[in-house]
Amino acid sequence: MKAIGKLIGPFKQVLTMQHIPLKGAIKDSELEIIEHAGIYFIDGKISAVGDFTGLKEALGGDEEIIELKGDFLALPGYIDCHTHIAFAGNRANDFAMRNAGSSYLEIAEAGGGIWSTVKHTRACNQEDLKKLTLKRANELLKQGITTVEVKSGYGLNVEEELKTLRAIKEANKSTFVDLISTCLAAHMHPKDHTGTAEDYLFEMGEMLFPKLKEENLTHRIDAFVEKSAFSAEQILPYYRKAKEMGFDLTVHADQFSTSGSQIAVELGALSADHLEASTENEITILAGSDVVAVALPAASLGIGCDFTPARRLLDAGASLAIATDWNPGSAPMGKLIESASILATMQKLSNAEVFAGITYRAAKALNLNDRGRLMEGHLADFVIYETDNYQNITYLQGGLQPKSVWKNGVEVIVNEN
Ligand code: NIG
Ligand code: FE
Repeated sequence: MKAIGKLIGPFKQVLTMQHIPLKGAIKDSELEIIEHAGIYFIDGKISAVGDFTGLKEALGGDEEIIELKGDFLALPGYIDCHTHIAFAGNRANDFAMRNAGSSYLEIAEAGGGIWSTVKHTRACNQEDLKKLTLKRANELLKQGITTVEVKSGYGLNVEEELKTLRAIKEANKSTFVDLISTCLAAHMHPKDHTGTAEDYLFEMGEMLFPKLKEENLTHRIDAFVEKSAFSAEQILPYYRKAKEMGFDLTVHADQFSTSGSQIAVELGALSADHLEASTENEITILAGSDVVAVALPAASLGIGCDFTPARRLLDAGASLAIATDWNPGSAPMGKLIESASILATMQKLSNAEVFAGITYRAAKALNLNDRGRLMEGHLADFVIYETDNYQNITYLQGGLQPKSVWKNGVEVIVNEN
């Protein structure tokens, strides 16, 4: 059957996110804002974005026209390029302990932290883990997020990591959101592993990596480079092996101490994420590279620490994406616009920098070239708000819900505002 073209509009404003640079600071005046705009799409892909009346006049007559009445605007579907939503259990007690004075690392050393989530996640079967992941993915979709990266990392042995990645793969089949999986078997040296951290990483490289390929579970490898997890020397052979096997790399870098970003740059990783502890040195190194710096403001809010130096990274010339880091420990919030808007006030980011960070630049962090901008040939993934000005989105800091969310040209969410 021949696909029918659809035209939706007129929108008061469409932010295409076209023509903005991949790296460096961006002024709001650089945003392409089309007024009285229409989006014409066919078979899940965008054919044209432009003046609504002009697009309408050019139609042949067979197309469907979705005519909007009122003040609406559209942006590319958001991309959350860093989450850990495949987990079971809850760490409200960690949060309370932290607020009572214990540090993140102290809690981890006392048996809480990542390891307690590993125990809960291991006790959860694949089907239930799939359901938990799916529920959280659909909550993100309601926020306008149409692509979500999801890490493993609470399994920490071959079978449990495979279970998690299979659960993510299954969840992906049951949701409209695109789930992009990442293997984070190097989240920490598991407490029940007999052998050194080096042995653990070697075993994962030998036994887990080939299975990831065999079952097509992921093409991305992540590691937590940190004092409480893996040092630069420990992780380098692991990452080199992953790179040799053709995996894309990403790094949990400079969260509490530096060295991760250096590794990300050396290895040509797609992104270096966290960076709360990055100093001028790391900022300069990142800015001189193609590695996307990923700020995770909800982790700063969850832990109560400094924000990623987003302003300095952008001014130095780095590319900056913003993600939720949704996880049960450091970032339980799971809200993208809320946390990105707060980062904007604390770091003085323009709207253009915030929106690029959750669309175009986030797509780059995931090496996805078919989304993040509204333009011909890209996926018809977009989010619609009932408001007359895009500035209201960050201004209301999450208070303004999307009216509807479209994925591959289909309206998949209609929120009652
Ligand atoms: O991105 N930093 C390491 N990993 C996660 C936290 C995971 C957890 O605390 O469960 C993060 O913040
Ligand atoms: Fe993380």
